[in-house]
Amino acid sequence: MAAQPETLRIAVVHGPNLNLLGRREPEVYGRATLADLDAELARLGESVGASVTSFQANGEGQLVDHVHQTAPSVDGFLVNAGAYTHTSIALRDALTGVSRPFVEVHLSNLHAREPFRHHSHLSDCAIGVVVGFGPDSYFLGLRGLVGFLQRQLRSDNGDI
Ligand code: DQA
Repeated sequence: MAAQPETLRIAVVHGPNLNLLGRREPEVYGRATLADLDAELARLGESVGASVTSFQANGEGQLVDHVHQTAPSVDGFLVNAGAYTHTSIALRDALTGVSRPFVEVHLSNLHAREPFRHHSHLSDCAIGVVVGFGPDSYFLGLRGLVGFLQRQLRSDNGDI
C-alpha cells in the first residue's frame, strides 16, 4: 500500500487542450486558467491533508509515460483526459496497469454534449466520476479521492 499516514500524494493529470483553459470556448469551459485551477487544487489539497502535483500534456504517449513514472510515488490520480477520454485505450491501460485508484473529472457535462463524448474509456475503472461542475468537478473529485484514500488507510490500519 503506497499511502503514508501523514500526507496523501495526489497527481492531477490534464489531457490535451486543457492548457488553453480560460481562452478555449469559455462558454463551455469557463474563464479560469489551468494555472488558476492547479493553484486552487494545491490549496484545497493542503487543507485536506494531501500534496497535489499537476501535469498537463497534449500527447497521448506523454500522458501514458507520466502515469508510469509518477505512479510509484503517488497514492492516487485525479484525471481529466480531455478528448482522450473518448478514444484512448492506452491511457486506460496505463491507469489500470499502475494499480492506483483514480477519479475521472470533466469540466463540462459530457452527457449533455455530442454523442461521441458520451462514452468514456476510463469511467468503469475509476473509483468515481464527476462531470459538469466546471472547476468544481476537480475540487469535488479531489475531495472524493482523498476521502477514499483516507478510508483505505484506516481500514489497512485496522481502525474500521
Ligand atoms: C473535457 C470534455 C472532453 O470531451 C473534451 O474533449 C475536453 C474537455 C471536459 O473537461 O469537459 O477536452 O474533458
